Amino acid sequence: MESPDVLVEKLLPEARAVSTRAWSPYSGVRVGAVVLGGEGRTYTGCNVESASYGLTQCAERNALAAAIAGGERPGHIGAILIFATGFETLSPCGACRQVISELMSKDAVIVACSEQHAPRSWTITELFPDPFSLQGS
Ligand code: THU
Repeated sequence: MESPDVLVEKLLPEARAVSTRAWSPYSGVRVGAVVLGGEGRTYTGCNVESASYGLTQCAERNALAAAIAGGERPGHIGAILIFATGFETLSPCGACRQVISELMSKDAVIVACSEQHAPRSWTITELFPDPFSLQGS
């Protein structure tokens, strides 16, 4: 998998663009995520809030859902880049970590960027070391 710096260069413009389409009238936070699939295809998602706050959909899970709908298979998704306004660098929420750990490849890279701060990156194990899994149940 490419280094976090290369991923930022490659994916940040799309993440920034999709973040402008966020629907976040309650928090004001705009998040854009880009998933890098096999063969270099990209899939995007932004956060979509609801007046019933708990129904809010995060950018990461929306981008991963778009990747699956686009034909990417679980376990073969190599990278996700997240861009957010209003944060130093957004660290994915717990629900997104669970889904990231289920859908992305074991050696996937997760990168978070913001306008003014240095990017941060993690492996899945760093982000979510001991995931719930139905395998072996
Ligand atoms: N949000 C995301 O899109 N991804 C995360 O990992 C954490 C939070 C969104 C949800 C909500 O619209 C806003 O950020 C503030 O919580």
